[in-house]
Amino acid sequence: MSEIDWDDDLSVGVPSIDDQHKQLIALTNSLFQAILEGRGFVVLMDILNELAEYAVTHFDYEEKLMKAYGYPEAELKAHICEHDALKEQVAEYIEKCTAHEVALDVKVFNFLRDWTTDHLIETDMKYKRFFYERGVE
Ligand SMILES: [Fe+2]
Ligand SMILES: [Fe+2]
Repeated sequence: MSEIDWDDDLSVGVPSIDDQHKQLIALTNSLFQAILEGRGFVVLMDILNELAEYAVTHFDYEEKLMKAYGYPEAELKAHICEHDALKEQVAEYIEKCTAHEVALDVKVFNFLRDWTTDHLIETDMKYKRFFYERGVE
């Protein structure tokens, strides 16, 4: 288990979006640190709630930008599907957290680390060139 390290390979070339991604990564990494200190479960609910809120802010931002610049419809749909899946999964984890599921902190961290890096590298990266060509900042 290791935390997510930000490096320039993760940049989508739009500073405002990179900043939001850094914040999502920092939130995920804060769960990692808490787990190492043996207080993962203490902070889990707060992190999930914060994530539920921040993910919506970030996803709305990306989706609005893609729509505003005429991002191809099929790609947009698939991208939004991934965002919606994450929101549903976080809501599910919040329910499990309320029910005190065992070792949930580690499960959530692993999920968030994989989802965030996969989504960033495979899905968000697809709009990098599109936004660059349109001068989106
Ligand atoms: Fe993103
Ligand atoms: Fe995205």
